[in-house]
Amino acid sequence: MASVLESDFTPGIGMTTTEAPYIEKARTQGEVFIDQPYSLYSEENHDTWKRLYARMLPHWEKYANEHFIRGIENLCLDPERMPRLEDVNKFLNPLTGFKAKAVAGYVPAYQFFDCLRNRDFPTTITIRKAEKLDYLPEPDIFHDISGHVPMHTDKAFADTLVRFGECARTAAQMCQEIKDKDEQVRRVDSIIKAMARFFWFTIEFGLMKDSASGGLKAYGSGLLSSYGELEYCIESPDVQRYPCQLEWVVNQYFEIDHYQPLLFIVDSFDHLFSLVDELEKWMLEGKLNNVAPGEPLVNEEDLRSFLEANV
Ligand SMILES: [Fe+2]
Repeated sequence: MASVLESDFTPGIGMTTTEAPYIEKARTQGEVFIDQPYSLYSEENHDTWKRLYARMLPHWEKYANEHFIRGIENLCLDPERMPRLEDVNKFLNPLTGFKAKAVAGYVPAYQFFDCLRNRDFPTTITIRKAEKLDYLPEPDIFHDISGHVPMHTDKAFADTLVRFGECARTAAQMCQEIKDKDEQVRRVDSIIKAMARFFWFTIEFGLMKDSASGGLKAYGSGLLSSYGELEYCIESPDVQRYPCQLEWVVNQYFEIDHYQPLLFIVDSFDHLFSLVDELEKWMLEGKLNNVAPGEPLVNEEDLRSFLEANV
């Protein structure tokens, strides 16, 4: 299959969420991992990045955990221009071995987690529309590069992601050994749901105790890339914040279309790592085989990604 060529498109044509001809073509050709056609970004795309970055900076200083702040400094992101993944990786890779890897869109659950195991981070390269800075129909490069990647510069956090990827592998191995097909689908559905909930309430929306101030700071990327929710998650009296408990997290449904009313707190990344260990232990003991129904719904493609994974 031929890859999509950057030179087939007009420079500056734009790489905007839902309006990126390069991405559409790549998807039509069934490509998942792609190049980043940097010349195709429009001036409007660069300007959107600049505006998003400028308004987040003071919020990060106030509400982001110290590892993230150090990560932002270490990555040397350009506040004025869209990030070039190649440049990001020059700073990121020597620190933890992680690399941002451009993708054309959705990556099925198993492949996504397995990328983490290999220290690759599937990265969206389009950016939200200029007139909708706060509205995110799907992840974009601001969420992925300025929300996730700074965390990947931290060794303990990076090791936790790898451990999570190993956990997904254990799940696929376990589920593939089940002979009864109906039981196999039922069980893998429950395990993926548990893993997705864990990922959501930690990697995407986690809070951490801050030893310096005695308060809370955000480490979840969904929080760190949202101007409104970053302040809300720490300041709002409407948010319930509890110590992270595995039995709760894996059974707790979530909705993605509004600010989160319930968040979980970890003590440190060592604590988070130990929770992933425990998650795998529970999985092996069968404790994730019957988690509470509800969101997120596991689609056919995610199920197949686990059952057909080459493990
Ligand atoms: Fe994310």
